[in-house]
This record gives sequence, C-alpha cells and structure tokens, in this order.
Amino acid sequence: MKTVKKAAAIGGGLIGGGWIARMLLAGVDVNVHDPDPEAERKVSTLIVNAERAMARLWPGQTTQAKGQLKFCGSLAEAVADADLIQESTPERIEIKCAVHREIGEAASKDAVIGSSTSGLLPSEFQADSALADRIMVAHPYNPVYLLPVVEIVGGAKTSDAAIARAMEAYAEIGMKPVHIKKEIDAFVGDRLLEAMWRESLWLVKDGVATAETIDDVVRYGLGLRYAQMGQFMTYRLGGGEAGMEHFLKQFGPSLSWPWTKLMDTPEWTDELIETLAEQSDAQAGGLSITELERIRDNNLVDILKALHRNDWGAGSLLKNPVVMAADQNAEKMIPDGPEMITFDGLVDPDWADYNDHMTEFRYLEVFSKSTDTLLDWIGGGPAYARGGSSWYTIETHIRHLDEVAIGKPIMVKSRLVQHDEKRLHLFHDMHGGDDMGLLATGEHMLMHVDMDAGRSSPMPEAMKASLDTIAERQSGLPMPDSRGASIGIRAKPKS
Ligand SMILES: NC(=O)c1ccc[n+]([C@@H]2O[C@H](COP(=O)([O-])OP(=O)(O)OC[C@H]3O[C@@H](n4cnc5c(N)ncnc54)[C@H](O)[C@@H]3O)[C@@H](O)[C@H]2O)c1
Repeated sequence: MKTVKKAAAIGGGLIGGGWIARMLLAGVDVNVHDPDPEAERKVSTLIVNAERAMARLWPGQTTQAKGQLKFCGSLAEAVADADLIQESTPERIEIKCAVHREIGEAASKDAVIGSSTSGLLPSEFQADSALADRIMVAHPYNPVYLLPVVEIVGGAKTSDAAIARAMEAYAEIGMKPVHIKKEIDAFVGDRLLEAMWRESLWLVKDGVATAETIDDVVRYGLGLRYAQMGQFMTYRLGGGEAGMEHFLKQFGPSLSWPWTKLMDTPEWTDELIETLAEQSDAQAGGLSITELERIRDNNLVDILKALHRNDWGAGSLLKNPVVMAADQNAEKMIPDGPEMITFDGLVDPDWADYNDHMTEFRYLEVFSKSTDTLLDWIGGGPAYARGGSSWYTIETHIRHLDEVAIGKPIMVKSRLVQHDEKRLHLFHDMHGGDDMGLLATGEHMLMHVDMDAGRSSPMPEAMKASLDTIAERQSGLPMPDSRGASIGIRAKPKS
C-alpha cells in the first residue's frame, strides 16, 4: 500500500528534476518550488527522458498511474502537505541552511526531509531548523530516474524514527536506500569516486594515458564488473577457488607499493585543465550532451534489464508497472468509452528478427500484455492470482497482416467479443507504423480457473459485472469480420 502520496521537490535542476521524474512515475504527486523561470522547461525535459527510458524498460506497460505535477510560487506552499521533501538546491551551505530553516517552519512534523547534497554535512544545515530531527542527507546519483541507490546519512539531531521512515519511503519510490552509519564528508559513493578521479588525473598529468584510454580500461573491464558485483564481491572472485583470504594475503601488501598516489592531487594548473578538456572533447566525437545522455540511458536500461533477468543487484528492484499497480491496490480504470487501448508503446529493438521486423513470438507477448491490461481492469491481475484463482489462455489465433517495424509506435485496441461465467473471448487489433494502420490481430479464449482445485470455475460476481460493463460500452461497435476465422489454404474461386 502506498504511504508516500505527496512529495515536494525544492530545487528542480538536474538532480531535482530527476527526483521529480522518478516520483511522478512511481505514482506520487509532486509539488515543485524553484525560483528559476526556466525550471518548468528543465523539469519537463527530464520527465520526457525518464518516460522514454521507462517505455524501453517496460514496453507498453503503463498501468501505473502517473502522479500530478504542480509548480508552487512559495516553498511553504510546496512542502505544506508533503510526506517526502527532497531538497536539491545548489551545493552552497548558506543556501541549504536558509532553505532547511524555511522547510522547518512550514512542513509537517512527520515528513521525511532529505537533502541531495553530494558532500555537505547534515549537522550543519539542520542546526537551525524547527524540524531538525526529520532532516538527513538523501544523496542520489545521476540520472536519479534510473539509478536506484540513495545514501541516507543522519546528522547530530536526526531521529532514528526519521531514518527508519526514510528507508521505507525511498524504497517505495523504487530506490535502494543505504544507511551510512556515520556522518562523514562526501559519504561513501563520492569518496570512492574521488579516489578513482584523483588516480585518473595523475595518469593524464604524468602522460601515462589519455582520458580515452583510462575510460576504455573502465568501460571494457572494471565497469562491467562493478555494476553487478561491486568492489568486495569482485575481489572475492579474484581470489579464485582459494577465496577471499587468499586474495587479501596475495594483494594486500601491494597497497603500500609506491604506485598508488591516492592522497595527493595534481596541481590544478591551466595546462592540466586544457589537456583534460581537449582530450574529453576529442573523446566525445562531436556527440552533444543530449545525444550522450540518450546513449547512456539506453545502455543503463539494457544493463538493468539484464540484471532483472538474473534477479540480481539493481535489476532485482525493478517492478513491472502492472504488478506494482496490483501491489498498491491502484484503482483500475475501465475506459469510459467503447475504445479500449490495452497496449501503447514502441517496438523494442530487442524484438527484431533477422529481417529487422518484430519477430513472431513478440506478437504474442504484446497481445498477452494487452490481455493482462484488460484482466487488470476487471480485477483479475497478479494480485488476484495470488488468491488462488486466475485466467488461463486456452486458444490463440494470431494474424500477421503487415510488417511491424522496429522502433515504431504500436497500439492495441481490444474488443470483448463474448463472455460467460467462466470464459472470455477477446479480439485485439494491433495498429502501428507511421500511419497507425492495422498490422496484426490476436484472438484469444481464456478460462477462469481455480488453481488449487486444478479446474475451471465461475469467476466472482464483481468480475463478471466489470465484464458486463465493458460489453455494454462496446455494444455499439461492429464485430471484427475475421473473428472465429480458421486457418487453411482457401480454394481459388473457379473462373
Ligand atoms: N549534479 C550531480 O551529478 C549531482 C549528483 C548528486 C547530488 N547532487 C547534489 O544535488 C544538489 C543539486 O545539484 P544540481 O546538479 O541539480 O544543481 P542545479 O544547478 O542543476 O540545480 C539547482 C536548482 O536549485 C534551484 N534553486 C536555487 N536556489 C533555490 C531556492 N532557494 N529554493 C529552491 N530552489 C532553488 C536553482 O534554480 C536550480 O534549478 C546539490 O546539492 C548537488 O551537490 C548533484
């Protein structure tokens, strides 16, 4: 059940915008306060990016209701009724102190108040707030709408209850909150990043390697391991069969060898800055920041999908929006009119066959997602199945009418042809391409099943009533011409 219903974002720049996108897509209403007249435009760009990533992550699965976005003229208005308040203002202590003082005067005493700061200490900016016990660091990573980790760091006055509530609240919006036990500068993630950054700068300054070479070492090697195993698990495997103890004994002494310069930083000269900037420009190969962000997001989504398949790391946090809606008892909405759109998305590049069209079995995937959407509307989705009854498909007929091109939009409109107390006859029309023409049809017979007894059973009255409602709303539509068509080689008419 959803406990974070309303959030407030104070600051809607790169990080604030990322938080806003994540919260909205998790079904949370968000009030935003940011004095920048450009804030609305910047936030909407981040929401578009996040929606694009979600469409790639869950093609066509948009059951989860999006939250409402509201821009507020004052901070007090934004935070007044918020359960979760995320401050993402510039990294300046005087701004953070003033903003947290103001939040403390207007927010609810039960709200979670998290700061996105990358390194400032919570004890410093909570000191003057009337709600100091609710304030903590909640440090995310860019892009917030795709990377789940958030470092939770309490200050001297933060209460244990507030930390416990924050751990629940951030998890609810799909984050992985990690509680850092002590308040230290830069917390954990940025400390690790800084160590690697310092070494990288030395390697460029000393002419050992270019920015591109260093990034290649990470991209083609270390980085692929980090996303799934992290630091310690990676080294555990580095010990081979002999294990971690062997690894530590073998490589531990190398830490005191002279090749590590961790604590020194190279002098920040104009020459070094120029070298780094030139190498970085060459490396980008003319790609703009927007193009690079899209490439990054596509790759992150595909890495997350791979981790999800293995139920591992960040992938194990991902929840299909249909399942999430069921878990949150989100209100299922049967559309008001006769048109029932049950799938709306893009043809995923992973779905290509060797002709670069959508491969055969994906048609069934799209149609079964459409069926799932309709089942969800009538209360027959994943939550219902956990109660011991479900809908099983007993017959399917798919017609392939036109090519389905990769990357193009597709939409499925569904028709309830017939139903009785145990059966459901559905007909899906798949439209798509540039002209949204008819590309395929799917016709399916489903049976309501008592899974414990292992046999068909009548559906509950309320579910039947929902189907009656759909049938009533579609009663004015003509029946699909090809319903009930059989497969076969038709004889040519004799001339
Ligand atoms: N950029 C990153 O990669 C990154 C990563 C993690 C955390 N952070 C942290 O997130 C915070 C924000 O960083 P950013 O990169 O989004 O900066 P940004 O400059 O993109 O955004 C800051 C926003 O705060 C707004 N702002 C300024 N004063 C304000 C006020 N009084 N009330 C409300 N809004 C105000 C600005 O108009 C701006 O839109 C910083 O504390 C930063 O350390 C940044």
